[in-house]
Amino acid sequence: MSECATPAVGPGRDASSEEARTDALRADLLAWYGVSGRDLPWRRTGDPYAILVSEVMLQQTQVDRVARAWPAFLAAFPTVEALAEAPLAAVVTAWQGLGYNRRAVRLSEAARCIVAEHAGRVPDEVVALERLPGVGAYTARAVAAFAFARPAAPVDTNVARVLARAVAGAPLSARSAQALADDLVPTARAAAWSHALMDLGSLRCTSRAPDCPACPLAARCVWYATGGQDPAAGGAHRSRSQGPFEGSDRWYRGRLVDGLRQGAMAWAAVEELLTGLDEAGRRRVVDGLAADGLVAVGGEGLTLAGHEETEATRDG
Ligand code: ADE
Repeated sequence: MSECATPAVGPGRDASSEEARTDALRADLLAWYGVSGRDLPWRRTGDPYAILVSEVMLQQTQVDRVARAWPAFLAAFPTVEALAEAPLAAVVTAWQGLGYNRRAVRLSEAARCIVAEHAGRVPDEVVALERLPGVGAYTARAVAAFAFARPAAPVDTNVARVLARAVAGAPLSARSAQALADDLVPTARAAAWSHALMDLGSLRCTSRAPDCPACPLAARCVWYATGGQDPAAGGAHRSRSQGPFEGSDRWYRGRLVDGLRQGAMAWAAVEELLTGLDEAGRRRVVDGLAADGLVAVGGEGLTLAGHEETEATRDG
């Protein structure tokens, strides 16, 4: 640490100066967000179901793709009841373009849980949200904060990076990033605060090319003051997917589900689509999709799960 740097915590920093520093950091970031925050479609709704859908999509898919898919998905399934009642094949079909199709299966299960166990209302507590299929620590906190203004702190890769650099000035484990985020979240402005952290990480405090001179936290950032190795390098948080490696099992899984969105496939067509994989690889991909509840295996070939009836009646 350079001589000029101010330690974030430790000797010479009493509790009240620490609190004043936190207040100033919050004020600066929230002021920047008010002017420079992103106007994303799911931030304009207060509908908890629509927010849950957006957050499940955002778990592993880039913002611009979600911005395209989210309105169409909600047009197809406007309410949690509509989603709960929809055949799985229709949900997987509407998931097109988002990748990680297993999330569509889990979201459909979550909708049925919400209808069956929560009278059709998305729960407003983190603990209850975390019990829903496909909803983990991040998504539960995001929905609690964004849909219900709870003082919950969702930590994604952008948030974790900002906290490691600006506040801790040191690498953070997932657990310590969450603890720090929990400490910092302002009770009365939880949603704006987390949106602001996400936007700062996405627009200024980026992974590879942070624009420190244009950062609203430059004057308070521990890393900017101290220099040295990037505290966020090798951080514990996941980043959104860049898409599967061509030729990997996940890539073939995606191709096969894409093919099945057009309709049932006979075994010969399945085999052709999976050329490049040997017999064991083809079996692995098909069995994996069946185990995940995405496809149904029949004597003639494959369909999307829950599509069997539709297929049988399509021509008859
Ligand atoms: N706004 C609300 N949730 C978000 C997310 N997960 N990523 C980016 N912006 C968001």
